[in-house]
Amino acid sequence: MPDTPGSLALTRRFRRLRRSESIRALVRETRLSPDMFVLPLFVCEGTGVRREVGSMPGVFNLAVDEAVREASAARAAGVRGVLLFGLPAHKDDVGSASADPKAPVQSAVRALKREVPDLVVITDVCLCEYTDHGHCGILADREIVNDLTVEHLVRAAVSHAEAGADIVAPSDMMDGRVGAIRRALDARGFEQVAIMSYAAKYCSAFYGPFRDAAASAPAFGDRRSHQMDPANADEALREVGQDIEEGADIVMVKPALPYLDVIRRVKDTFSYPTAAYQVSGEYAMLKAAARNGWIDEERAMLETLTAIRRAGADIVITYYAREAARLARR
Ligand code: PBG
Repeated sequence: MPDTPGSLALTRRFRRLRRSESIRALVRETRLSPDMFVLPLFVCEGTGVRREVGSMPGVFNLAVDEAVREASAARAAGVRGVLLFGLPAHKDDVGSASADPKAPVQSAVRALKREVPDLVVITDVCLCEYTDHGHCGILADREIVNDLTVEHLVRAAVSHAEAGADIVAPSDMMDGRVGAIRRALDARGFEQVAIMSYAAKYCSAFYGPFRDAAASAPAFGDRRSHQMDPANADEALREVGQDIEEGADIVMVKPALPYLDVIRRVKDTFSYPTAAYQVSGEYAMLKAAARNGWIDEERAMLETLTAIRRAGADIVITYYAREAARLARR
């Protein structure tokens, strides 16, 4: 039975603006745009390699030529940027390959700047993919030595800039690395290379599939000595504030969905370009549930990305970048 007119003396009926997709679109507060998405890519040695990551369906380890192909397809879908991770052939205790001009990331940067010139090329700067022990820095007595590690990170960042990276993105969570990288870049004439700092990076269980993709799980222990305690949010503001003081151009909160409150506080406190990283475990959860027929993948993907955007993220790094850009453009 339809409602009897006037049966309730309501001044506001919220449902009026939800009646059709056209009305809903008029009053929609949060929109997704392809411009905001960044696609992470895992670059390995060789040519023609395209190896799917077991725990991340649709994500691959890619040789440079395949990475260029993937990046071009993403660009064609509207994606603006890629974030590169390297899988070196050789690992050692100081992660030497991280600053090797011929390593996968540096090679991919050169190829991408040549083949897809309007794509923003961002490089992850960390040692965990390059060390044989899988830790993010140089060890002494099984502990990461901060300042020595920063010297190695600086070398890696400079080699990325020399290859042509637009933005370097330190993800290691050592203290003082943003300032050290900024000074080193400026001293070498790379004052135009920006820094996107993983400023509030939590010690999260949701990085599991990434460590599978990058073969970077620590051989012993964990990352609690440098990544943030998930219980802390005030501390995230101190981390972000410090990285901005040291010269970060973009600040990141990571993971994204479990930390929407942190994204909001960072955006409100600093009004800075803010990125959020929908990490491997967030992606894997959606994929796994969708594969079991338990959720509608496309809707769940758009809902999570919209939530991250609504929380205040300007840039969203996501393994769904290509699909999301395609859907956002419609
Ligand atoms: C590396 C790094 C990690 C991620 C981004 N950079 C892994 C880690 O800290 O263990 C995680 C990304 C993801 O899970 O998608 N330093």
